[in-house]
Amino acid sequence: MRTGLLCPLALLFLLGQTTGNLEPLVPGPSSSSFLDSVFVSNFISGLSSNDSFTPSPGSESQSLSNFTGFEDDHGTCHCSVTLPDTTFPVQRVERLEFTAHVLSQKFEKELSKVREYVQLISVYEKKLSNLTVRVEIMEKDTISYTELDFELIKIEVKEMEKLIIQLKDNFVGSTTIVDQLEVEIRNMSLLVEQLETLDKNNVLAIRREILALKNRLKECEASKGENVTVSPPPPAPGSCGHGGVVNISKPTIVQLNWRGFSFKYGAWGRDYSPQQPNGGLYWVAPLNTDGRHLEYYRLYNTLDDLLLYINAREYRITYGQGSGTAVYNNYMYVNMYTSQNIAKINLNDSRVEVTQTLPDAAYNNRFSYANVDWQDIDLAVDENGLWVIYATEASTGNMVISKLNDTTLTVLDTWYTRQYKPSVSNAFMVCGVLYATRTLNTREEEIFYYYDTNTGREGSLNVVMPKMRERVQSINYHPFDQKLFVYNDGYLLNYDLIFNKEPK
Ligand SMILES: *[C@@H]1O[C@H](CO)[C@@H](O)[C@H](O)[C@H]1NC(C)=O
Ligand SMILES: *[C@@H]1O[C@H](CO)[C@@H](O)[C@H](O)[C@H]1NC(C)=O
Ligand SMILES: *[C@@H]1O[C@H](CO)[C@@H](O)[C@H](O)[C@H]1NC(C)=O
Ligand SMILES: *[C@@H]1O[C@H](CO)[C@@H](O)[C@H](O)[C@H]1NC(C)=O
Ligand SMILES: *[C@@H]1O[C@H](CO)[C@@H](O)[C@H](O)[C@H]1NC(C)=O
Ligand SMILES: *[C@@H]1O[C@H](CO)[C@@H](O)[C@H](O)[C@H]1NC(C)=O
Ligand SMILES: *[C@@H]1O[C@H](CO)[C@@H](O)[C@H](O)[C@H]1NC(C)=O
Ligand SMILES: *[C@@H]1O[C@H](CO)[C@@H](O)[C@H](O)[C@H]1NC(C)=O
Repeated sequence: MRTGLLCPLALLFLLGQTTGNLEPLVPGPSSSSFLDSVFVSNFISGLSSNDSFTPSPGSESQSLSNFTGFEDDHGTCHCSVTLPDTTFPVQRVERLEFTAHVLSQKFEKELSKVREYVQLISVYEKKLSNLTVRVEIMEKDTISYTELDFELIKIEVKEMEKLIIQLKDNFVGSTTIVDQLEVEIRNMSLLVEQLETLDKNNVLAIRREILALKNRLKECEASKGENVTVSPPPPAPGSCGHGGVVNISKPTIVQLNWRGFSFKYGAWGRDYSPQQPNGGLYWVAPLNTDGRHLEYYRLYNTLDDLLLYINAREYRITYGQGSGTAVYNNYMYVNMYTSQNIAKINLNDSRVEVTQTLPDAAYNNRFSYANVDWQDIDLAVDENGLWVIYATEASTGNMVISKLNDTTLTVLDTWYTRQYKPSVSNAFMVCGVLYATRTLNTREEEIFYYYDTNTGREGSLNVVMPKMRERVQSINYHPFDQKLFVYNDGYLLNYDLIFNKEPK
């Protein structure tokens, strides 16, 4: 007999005396918890269902019959019983113990799931009430609401609907809270749709129709023109086999930045690496509300994650200034606080690997852009690598372009333009050409100036760039997507660049 079975042995003896009355034999406080009762019921059913241990009257006298007794010199009776191993179902008890263990683990897992859901539910309840408030405001608002507001709310409602379905699938047991939430979200969805139909001038519907018509027109023109002109294919992603920027699409509103409406300054974009041109992660770096400190930023592996505000990696740095940030080859480049320095931050762990002074660069709001403070030093990425756009006292505030070695941050080459930096609202680089924008009005910017570092030529352009809000805080270009990533008063916008198909 094994020593570990002392307890079952005791049970066996008691069983022999009180056949048929199993209740008091249960070890531990019964029905104190779910686990105990599971263990108990399994234990009992396990014992009684096995033939080799059915305590029917008479059978125990057989199985306990091997004993010897004798009387000692003092007249005391001694009795010893030998129990063959087969009498007690050792393996079975062991199995039960194992089952109980597995059950307890399962239970813990379920319990933690429930806790998780409860937390999620409370988060979503808060979000829902926030949305309700916003929808109410929109309902009362007699001024026409923009499509932007609708789209944002619709994205959020969709996201919640998705989550609630997921919750329901996973949630075993009471689902009253979940059901209730589901009804509320359905209601919200309906309400937004109703609101949309209430749009007095039918602006939204008409806009959509116009868009559909435009597309059909385009198709029609394309099929008609097939024979006439064989236009060269658009330039391959990441290539510079084109004649520069000639036009730009309407903006796509990606979303509000993750920190909210009040974070009007910042930058966003997508990492570009020539080795993995389409593998770059997305980054969003809203400045603090002072419009100066870059402290928190987030990284997303995919655009879907960014859209749903999920699976973000969030980092905090203490030395960032302005929204001239750029990301290249898994490194983020930022102007350091109150200095001419540029920091190179490894995005794997948010550690600074290199800092380097940008010689002669004006800083601390000496020559920032129009409408945007603290962006004296604006980093940029294009097909050729890392650039910096700035101004110096010697350049009398005109824009200076330097190509940087992205390993060491040292200046490789420098070009001097004749465009005064503070009169420009922002700038970006494409294939070694600097493009600068200015503000036309609250709804439009214009790409009005270029400087080609390949030829040293500069000149004017007039590509009108519609915008959602008044001020453009930053523009970043992605060579593979051939898109601009624009931070517009807290909103993240995307534009497709249209190039002259004839190479220069
Ligand atoms: C009793 O236990 C034996 C050995 O563990 C097993 O083979 C048998 O199926 C069990 N009988 C019942 C009725 O559970
Ligand atoms: C009783 O146990 C002894 C050993 O302790 C064994 O030799 C004997 O065969 C057993 N008798 C019966 C009837 O099981
Ligand atoms: C709703 O959320 C937004 C952004 O998270 C926040 O700016 C706003 O104050 C919230 N509104 C209410 C009524 O809680
Ligand atoms: C859903 O909307 C209907 C009417 O639009 C309302 O009667 C009902 O109370 C709403 N349910 C919830 C849970 O808000
Ligand atoms: C386009 O070319 C095809 C054959 O190449 C020809 O059959 C068709 O009539 C042409 N269409 C026009 C509008 O010229
Ligand atoms: C530029 O694109 C807009 C629409 O995106 C179009 O209306 C305009 O005509 C285009 N301009 C040129 C010069 O192609
Ligand atoms: C980041 O981590 C990945 C995987 O460990 C590695 O391949 C890559 O080289 C790292 N990038 C940088 C910039 O350190
Ligand atoms: C950048 O600097 C590194 C280290 O000094 C050097 O190996 C590399 O060749 C430089 N790159 C360019 C383009 O000069």
